[in-house]
Amino acid sequence: MKKRILFLSTVIISIALFTGAGILIATDCPDEISIKSDAFTKYKKGAVKFSHGKHHVDYKLACTECHHVYKEGKNTYKEGDPVQKCSACHDAVKSKGKVKKLMLAYHKNCQGCHKQLEKAGKKAGPTRKCNDCHEKKK
Ligand code: HEC
Ligand code: HEC
Ligand code: HEC
Ligand code: HEC
Repeated sequence: MKKRILFLSTVIISIALFTGAGILIATDCPDEISIKSDAFTKYKKGAVKFSHGKHHVDYKLACTECHHVYKEGKNTYKEGDPVQKCSACHDAVKSKGKVKKLMLAYHKNCQGCHKQLEKAGKKAGPTRKCNDCHEKKK
C-alpha cells in the first residue's frame, strides 16, 4: 500500500513537472545523448551524438562546464539539481543580450571548449568539421 502511494505520487509529480514546465526535467547524468532540439523548426544539419557520461567521467568535466542557472551573474547549478533543456532559456531564433540564440549556445559551449583545449595544445574534440559532430542528414 505504501509503495503504491509512493509510486502514484512519483507519477503525479513527474507529470506535473513535465507538463507544467513543458520541458524535460531530470537530474541524473545520462551516458549518451542524441541532441536534436525540438525548439528548432527546421534542421539544416543532422542530430548530434554526444558522449555525455564520458565528458564527465573520462574527460573530468564538471556539470557546471555546461549546465547553468544564473543568479545575480553567478552560476548556482549543483550536481543533482534538475536540468532544463538549453532551449528553456536560449531562444531558437534570437539572441537576447548575453543569452545567445540556441545554435550559438551549443556551438559556443561545445566548440568553444574544444577550441580552447586545442589552443592550449591539449587533446580536444571536434572544432571545425561539421560532420565530426553532426550526423549525416537523413
Ligand atoms: C560537456 C558538457 C556537459 C557536461 C560536463 C554535463 N552535461 Fe548534462 N547535458 C549536456 C547537454 C548538451 C545536454 C542536452 C541538453 C539539451 O538537450 O538541450 C545535457 C543533458 C543533461 C540531462 C537531461 C537528460 C536528457 O536526456 O535530456 C541531465 C539530467 C544532465 N545533463 C545532467 C548532468 C549532470 C548531473 C552532469 C554532471 C555530473 C552533467 N549533466 C554534465 C551537457 C553536459
Ligand atoms: C535556466 C536558463 C538557462 C539554461 C537552461 C541554459 N542557459 Fe545558457 N545562459 C543562460 C544565461 C542567463 C546566460 C547569460 C549569462 C551571463 O550573464 O553571462 C547564458 C549563457 C550561456 C553561454 C555563454 C557563455 C558562458 O559564459 O557560459 C553559453 C555558451 C550557454 N549559455 C550555453 C548553454 C547550453 C549549452 C545550455 C544547455 C546545456 C544552456 N546554456 C542552458 C541561461 C540558461
Ligand atoms: C569543457 C570542455 C568541453 C565541452 C563543453 C564539450 N567538450 Fe567535447 N570533448 C572535450 C574533451 C576534453 C574531449 C576529449 C579529447 C580526447 O581526450 O580525445 C572531447 C571530445 C569530444 C568528441 C570526440 C570523442 C567523443 O567522446 O565522442 C566529440 C564528438 C565531442 N567532444 C562533442 C561535444 C559536443 C557535441 C559538445 C557540446 C554538447 C561538447 N563536446 C562539449 C571537452 C569538451
Ligand atoms: C563540437 C560539435 C559541433 C560541431 C563541430 C558543429 N556543430 Fe552544429 N550543432 C551542435 C549541436 C550540439 C547542435 C544542436 C543540435 C540540435 O539540437 O539539432 C548544433 C546545431 C546546429 C544547427 C541548428 C540546428 C539545425 O540542424 O539547423 C546548425 C544549422 C548547425 N549546428 C550548423 C553547423 C555547421 C554548418 C557546422 C560546421 C561548420 C557545425 N554545426 C559544427 C554541435 C556542433
